[in-house]
Amino acid sequence: MSPETWDYMRFKAAFFKKTGLDLERYKDKQMERRILQLMQRENKPDFRLFFEYLAGSPPAMERFMNYLTINTSEFFRDEKVYKHLQEKTFVELLQREQGLLKIWSAGCSIGAEPYTIAIALNILKSLGRIKIIASDIDDKALETAKKGQYSRKQLGKTREEIIRKYFSTDGDNYCIIPEIKQVVTFKRHNLLTDSSFPDCHMIFCRNVFIYFKPETQEFLLERFSGALKTGGYLVIGSAEYISNPANFGLTKCFNTIYQKMNNRNI
Ligand SMILES: C[S@@+](CC[C@H](N)C(=O)[O-])C[C@H]1O[C@@H](n2cnc3c(N)ncnc32)[C@H](O)[C@@H]1O
Repeated sequence: MSPETWDYMRFKAAFFKKTGLDLERYKDKQMERRILQLMQRENKPDFRLFFEYLAGSPPAMERFMNYLTINTSEFFRDEKVYKHLQEKTFVELLQREQGLLKIWSAGCSIGAEPYTIAIALNILKSLGRIKIIASDIDDKALETAKKGQYSRKQLGKTREEIIRKYFSTDGDNYCIIPEIKQVVTFKRHNLLTDSSFPDCHMIFCRNVFIYFKPETQEFLLERFSGALKTGGYLVIGSAEYISNPANFGLTKCFNTIYQKMNNRNI
């Protein structure tokens, strides 16, 4: 008798048991398509065979986790948003708050996002006023982030004068300068299962929840709202949208920037 083949449902259940990562919370079609593509590349034609292969090979499992987490990122991703933050949001927060500003970059990938935030605040001469916590589930991305070493492509549309001031070069690599590096603390953190970082003045969660199912997005918005101080800001990605911000005590200020209000509409 040939061993039974598995469908995607069965694979998700086994994978969750093995790794604690719940693929059920991610958009099914998109995720299944990506996994099938990889299975084809790895010459593992069905989900059971593929799972057994991953379970038996830590390097294959690491490659798979890395593939799953889609950690595309770059410095100054969406110039318009950073321009607004520098001209309005950061300025307003720095004037209103007396002490350190606590900023959480949730799903920070290779670190381009938290370092961009730190550069933007340094331009406002306020690096000494901030503390950035940057978290991600992907160990490999966090390794790059902590190293702070990037290719020219990962610098994205960063202006030349910024590159000259905030990076040193090492062959083809661009290394973020220690002054910027020191205000960012990286942590391994699963947004779906680990507790949030409380009392934040700002949370950046950009190009992360686009991959999650609507009910998981709502779960995350609820958590982010709870982790923000009243008057604090949530910044999401340009391809993301919150259809009912008031349900989470948020109000839209600009483009993809939302502010936490006192009153909740629930
Ligand atoms: C496309 S990147 C976004 C990076 C950055 N925020 C940006 O906008 O350039 C998405 C990141 O979300 C992370 N991620 C996915 N699921 C996660 C989870 N459950 N907990 C924490 N991070 C997660 C991935 O590892 C990946 O690094």
